[in-house]
Amino acid sequence: MNKTIRWGILGCGKIARKFAADLVFVKDATLSAVASRDETNATAFAKEFNAAKSYGNYTSMLESADIDIVYIATPHGLHYEHVMLCLEYGKAVLCEKAFALNAVQAKAMIDKARKKNIFLMEALWSKFIPSYKKLMLLKEEGALGNINSVLINFGFIPQPPVAKRIYDPALGGGTLLDIGLYNVFYALSVLGKPDSIEASMTPASTGVDEQCAILFKYNNGALAQLFSSYTSYLATEADFNGDQGRVRLTHRFYTPGAALEFYPDRADSKQIIPLDKTEGFGYHYEASHVGECLRQGLTESPVMSHADTMLLMQTLDEIKAKGSGVRV
Ligand SMILES: NC(=O)c1ccc[n+]([C@@H]2O[C@H](COP(=O)([O-])OP(=O)(O)OC[C@H]3O[C@@H](n4cnc5c(N)ncnc54)[C@H](OP(=O)(O)O)[C@@H]3O)[C@@H](O)[C@H]2O)c1
Repeated sequence: MNKTIRWGILGCGKIARKFAADLVFVKDATLSAVASRDETNATAFAKEFNAAKSYGNYTSMLESADIDIVYIATPHGLHYEHVMLCLEYGKAVLCEKAFALNAVQAKAMIDKARKKNIFLMEALWSKFIPSYKKLMLLKEEGALGNINSVLINFGFIPQPPVAKRIYDPALGGGTLLDIGLYNVFYALSVLGKPDSIEASMTPASTGVDEQCAILFKYNNGALAQLFSSYTSYLATEADFNGDQGRVRLTHRFYTPGAALEFYPDRADSKQIIPLDKTEGFGYHYEASHVGECLRQGLTESPVMSHADTMLLMQTLDEIKAKGSGVRV
């Protein structure tokens, strides 16, 4: 593998724009090519983000020898198809969240990557940002004591023009896979796999969930209460509460823009924990990590492992099964 990682972007939508913008903050990385279903869109995107080449369909880009890794930025209902396609062409893959529609798809994608000895990682970008790392460090150092409750909410009302993927069942619509996934991911990170799950969902007119309430229960008494919504604006904050202290990640808790408030022991006095300043949106953290993995010849990230993705997908499947009557 060359020192400079040559990226290709598959699907030139909203998140692709942010990722492309952040690649300039990644050492030894270049945007080699972009592919869109629409040639005009691909050309304009390539021009804006200085990609060397643009393609008006996905497969032509995959035939190119000038790409080391493909970032898949299509709606999650298409991730299975697009990851399998990239692997067929022998390309390493960083695939946006939600990684797949369900654990069966996720396992097939991972199995194929392993069989072909090709790098594959879910783009769970929050796992690489400073506030997440600091939260995990405080937990590991015991600064919170026993964490007995986790309360996370994520909600906003999609504004026109609403992307088709938000409510379309075929594209993986609904809050759970789009935003509730972050709530689940943070709860799993801090409390681990729950011993039991309860969930309830409100269906939108298309049948996908427009609200989702989840309860994780643990045999040691810990509980996590997770809520996602497309029908109300929520604080979009996360609280991790222990018997020695607590942490609050403020608005848009899953981004580098959130502050990390630490409340030691029983005191109400809060400390704002200083975090490294993030350039851009913060997608460069995961992209830099992927570059390191590729240079080391890894086929799986030691940080966002295949097991991490499978646990997340299996948990999301269980939540869907519990929030019955809703198509997600
Ligand atoms: N990590 C994050 O912070 C973050 C934030 C937002 C979204 N996401 C994830 O990124 C993925 C894309 O989200 P987005 O907000 O970027 O969506 P988007 O703006 O709708 O873009 C998705 C792109 O996928 C391509 N596409 C291919 N087939 C499609 C189809 N049948 N219908 C619609 N689009 C199709 C299109 O690109 P072309 O026409 O150019 O081919 C489209 O622009 C989702 O899985 C989402 O969960 C992650």
